[in-house]
Amino acid sequence: MSARSCPNPDVVVVGAGAAGLMCALTAGYAGRRVRVLDHASKPGRKILMSGGGRCNFTNMDTGPHNFFSQNPHFCISALKRYRPEHFLELVERHGIEPVEKAPGQLFCADSSRPILDMLLTECDWAGVDIQLATTIERVERHGDGMRLTTSAGTLDTGAVVIATGGLSIPTMGATGFGYDVARSFGLAVTETRAALVPFTLTSQWKARAAALSGVACEVEARCRNGRYREPLLFTHRGLSGPAMLQLSSHWQPGDALDIDLLPGVDAFAALREAREATPRRHVSSWLAERLPRRLAQALIEWHGDDGVLAEASNAQLEAWGERLNRWSIKPAGTEGWRTAEVTLGGVDTRALSSKTFAVRELPQLRFIGEVLDVTGELGGYNFQWAWASGVACGLAL
Ligand code: FDA
Repeated sequence: MSARSCPNPDVVVVGAGAAGLMCALTAGYAGRRVRVLDHASKPGRKILMSGGGRCNFTNMDTGPHNFFSQNPHFCISALKRYRPEHFLELVERHGIEPVEKAPGQLFCADSSRPILDMLLTECDWAGVDIQLATTIERVERHGDGMRLTTSAGTLDTGAVVIATGGLSIPTMGATGFGYDVARSFGLAVTETRAALVPFTLTSQWKARAAALSGVACEVEARCRNGRYREPLLFTHRGLSGPAMLQLSSHWQPGDALDIDLLPGVDAFAALREAREATPRRHVSSWLAERLPRRLAQALIEWHGDDGVLAEASNAQLEAWGERLNRWSIKPAGTEGWRTAEVTLGGVDTRALSSKTFAVRELPQLRFIGEVLDVTGELGGYNFQWAWASGVACGLAL
């Protein structure tokens, strides 16, 4: 009998996002009667908006080192068992052609929609019942199973899987529901913070960034243990682009970002060589050859100090070297949950089995996906975690 006709399914998955749908279809194929509940009126909204509308659905080089967690070994087992090539095989079986935008980073060609359609089709084939626009008021233990009190009535089930994701983009249906459920069962939740999010700047730098809005260049950016060679983008509010989004997962309030605007080039040494080879050249023309034109002009405006190289002292060239290779800037903050791609922190995995994702003391309750304290870097890792945790949990239900 399919879950569609069954009043009390074997499994209820809360959250029709990436992890929830993957878990549901896996458990459905394994013969479980599965119902997915979501308070939103549409499933998988973050899938649709992901990857700039083209869903960076996996990264072929995914490994545990791409994730942040207070329990860093937890993710190893699931990532090993369900690898990027498994998801790629599923995608290709559905006729979706992947596009590798950067090494290992796989996107859809035009739109994220085919990925969501694929998951919904698989759920349909696996007999999964998806019930949307349903509010879950209570989750409690009931005999050997679980009971959910919902806006559509009471539901008894053998197991509940919480796949309600993190706090980013509340307008897309994000809530702290998963954390509340965890706490209500005595589980710890590690501190949560918006991550993969642009930085905001204060007055002088904000105005400077705004004037450069839309300018991008490859940089090497560092903060604490994070070091990324990727593009930086100036925006009306501050600094964005992959390099900045990546650093936001390492940044703590008060930290400065160290940005090398000419990665791989020792700017001081290169300027001294240029002074020998082309002494009549202006610093501005040397900069314009290596940086976006608007940024080169802005640097001259900010620092003055343009002149022919022949007349530049070593101290002046050294100062340019510092500005270019070691630009240190303190953000005012981040744009926060409104634009963050993910939540750093979440349900503490130390109380869970890394094989089944069940709470050790209460195996009828499981948590998967972003609601957990497992957060990937930018580049398709967060979806790979959603798929891998969903499959591992689904197979063990
Ligand atoms: P997800 O958030 O997908 O799903 C949670 C579901 O639970 C939602 O359907 C929600 O409505 C539901 N829910 C929440 N509270 C509920 C409640 N109280 N009751 C019932 N239902 C509830 N990652 C990546 O790898 N590649 C990428 O390209 C991108 N791009 C990207 C862009 C943007 C703008 C964002 C915001 C995020 C990304 N991500 C990403 C991150 C990725 O989208 C994210 O990590 C996964 O969607 C997490 O999957 P989950 O299933 O765990 O949560």
